[in-house]
Amino acid sequence: MGFKGKRSFPRRPCNSTATVSIQRESPLTMHETLFQPIRLGAIDAPNRVLMAPLTRGRADPGFVPNAMMVEYYRQRASAGLIITEATGISVEGLGWPSAPGIWSDEQVEGWKDVTQAVHDAGGRIVLQLWHMGRIVHPDFLDGAAPVSSSATTAPGNAHTPNGSKPFEPARALRLDEMPRLVDDYGHAAENAKKAGFDGVQLHGANGYLIDQFLRDNSNFRTDEYGGSPANRVRLMREVLERLIAVWGKDRVSIRLSPNGDSQGTDDSNPGAVFGEAARVLQELGVGFVELRQPGPNGTFGATDVPQQDALIRSIYTGPLVLNSDYTADQAEADIASGRCDAVTFGRPFISNPDLPARIRSGAELAPNVNVPKSWYMPGAAGYIDYPAMAAASADAG
Ligand SMILES: Cc1cc2nc3c(=O)[nH]c(=O)nc-3n(C[C@H](O)[C@H](O)[C@H](O)COP(=O)(O)O)c2cc1C
Repeated sequence: MGFKGKRSFPRRPCNSTATVSIQRESPLTMHETLFQPIRLGAIDAPNRVLMAPLTRGRADPGFVPNAMMVEYYRQRASAGLIITEATGISVEGLGWPSAPGIWSDEQVEGWKDVTQAVHDAGGRIVLQLWHMGRIVHPDFLDGAAPVSSSATTAPGNAHTPNGSKPFEPARALRLDEMPRLVDDYGHAAENAKKAGFDGVQLHGANGYLIDQFLRDNSNFRTDEYGGSPANRVRLMREVLERLIAVWGKDRVSIRLSPNGDSQGTDDSNPGAVFGEAARVLQELGVGFVELRQPGPNGTFGATDVPQQDALIRSIYTGPLVLNSDYTADQAEADIASGRCDAVTFGRPFISNPDLPARIRSGAELAPNVNVPKSWYMPGAAGYIDYPAMAAASADAG
């Protein structure tokens, strides 16, 4: 996903089998709440151990899902719900090498095999819809400038097919282009339906296009999409309305990252804009809301900006899903206390395809090896070769 926030991962040499973060989870009785079923809009999840969206960069040329991706998602079907890796809604919106898209018929065909495999294995899967905005490097656009809320440049470097390159200036979307942009989301949502998903999640987090409109350090517009919080949430609302027209409100969700800097997007008053966003989400009645909100000691985008979940929960009354740096014990505690209804696990699902079973049995969690190299590198290694528990013990025996 090209996250450029502050990271504090222990770097290990390639192929190291040294422990990165082995945790032994507490036994079964400690995690009863995590294994209570939950209704996420129209989706019945049998447990609250959900899989967070994870870009893995393994698609075929043309941004087409392939057999390796089918296997990866099939292995993780025991998650209460899988939220897929961020998936480009259009050529304009996708700037990550070998990430998948959902604008072409070929991509839809590829995704059909993924959803079929997950459903055959008893799982549920929603597609995360992604427009990267200014994070798309012109190399993906035949040299054209990327689009954003305003003419700004993301800090840092882009991953491009030609290596790492500094981001280039984006151009502001014109007012007359907004209906076309919303149509692109609508087309992607229709394709997601054809591909057999159980719903869609709007990627409104991590400094991508929707976030670039939300925050006042990347949105300097003077029209109805800029200025007040009500104006800055307008694009989010319009896109959600279109997704709901395709899917119904119960099968549409959103991910936000309301605290802190994400790839250069930040806000002078997060409570004002995310409070307004929560009011829209409540009014629209989306199926669930997911927040990625690291704390000051987070290992993925650590920030001192206060977490906004209490504010959002006080306004949006549907299921609230929290993320970042969760252990099973902390997830259990936060659900039991009513802070949230479910938790998404990201990195733990990379190396533990059967994470719910491991948590339930109190088994050791396998660490991510080759971190972070294997996250995005091509090929099966570090992707579909993490064994499930039974296979792991058989190997050991
Ligand atoms: C390899 C990798 C890829 C990611 N890709 C996405 C993505 O496609 N969409 C998204 O919203 N977040 C993405 N994230 C963020 C994760 O969903 C999650 O917020 C982060 O890993 C923190 O959760 P964790 O502590 O459980 O790992 C990614 C994170 C990692 C490590």
